Amino acid sequence: MSAPLLEMRGVSQIYTLARQTLFAPKPRLTVLDKVDFAVGQGEAVGLVGESGAGKTTLTRILTGLEQPQEGQVLFEEQSVWAAPPARRAAFRRGVQVVMQNPRSSLDPRMKVGTALLEPMRSLRVEGDHVARMHEVIGQVGLTPAALERYPHEFSGGQLQRIAIARALMPGPRVLIADEPVSALDVSIQAQVLNLLKDLTRDLGLSLVLIAHDLSVVAYSTSRVSVIASGRIVEAGPPMDLFRMPKAPETKALVDAVLTVEAGLAGTALA
Ligand SMILES: Nc1ncnc2c1ncn2[C@@H]1O[C@H](COP(=O)(O)OP(=O)(O)OP(=O)(O)O)[C@@H](O)[C@H]1O
Ligand SMILES: [Mg+2]
Repeated sequence: MSAPLLEMRGVSQIYTLARQTLFAPKPRLTVLDKVDFAVGQGEAVGLVGESGAGKTTLTRILTGLEQPQEGQVLFEEQSVWAAPPARRAAFRRGVQVVMQNPRSSLDPRMKVGTALLEPMRSLRVEGDHVARMHEVIGQVGLTPAALERYPHEFSGGQLQRIAIARALMPGPRVLIADEPVSALDVSIQAQVLNLLKDLTRDLGLSLVLIAHDLSVVAYSTSRVSVIASGRIVEAGPPMDLFRMPKAPETKALVDAVLTVEAGLAGTALA
């Protein structure tokens, strides 16, 4: 593989919690333990793990919201935290995130158009923002009429499209989607996953798709890392993980998918 576009090397994150009794030492919680993770130019990779495994913490570090206590984050082969201001600005525009719940990530009092313009102002992006807005709203499959409306006028699936449009506004090179479909109806999950897959291909973006469900990432990524208790326990093409899981945590994720599918099939027959 050529040099990764966005990468973390040996990242550890340890939180110190409140002490439980007066004289007890403060407990320490290792949330990430020497994690290596990378995505190449135009590549779509997945990260899966059960709840509490450290996925969102990894996202926060990969997007620069949190500084790791140990290890490095590199964008275009340069350390993000040691970079001069101009490089940091390129990183902030270049790596955008789509969160789990579009209803809480969009301000209900803001028209969609205003919400799309907001990152352009905070990231100080130059250019014709109105033209850009029309371009991205089309890329996510909505019409410009959406720009004049408020979040409550949309369905969950449409709102997630709007959140994706907002992430696209500054012209990122990497899109990180943290559980982008787990708050959506099963019937529209595939549409949003398809959209992410198409955007990655059509715009040459890199995608980091995060989920607790292996089947969600298997469909749109070529390489998947499994995280458990803050450690990457296994990585490989998703079909290999399905067919020959090596780590017990990967086996548990595969079994969970099969159980859910068997359960759904059972319901359909009942
Ligand atoms: N600021 C913090 N202080 C203390 N503990 C934290 C903090 N942030 C997260 N944690 C803990 O770190 C662990 C990992 O949390 P994280 O949100 O990264 O997991 P996750 O894999 O995203 O889970 P989920 O699938 O539920 O979203 C959890 O045990 C969580 O309680
Ligand atoms: Mg999470």
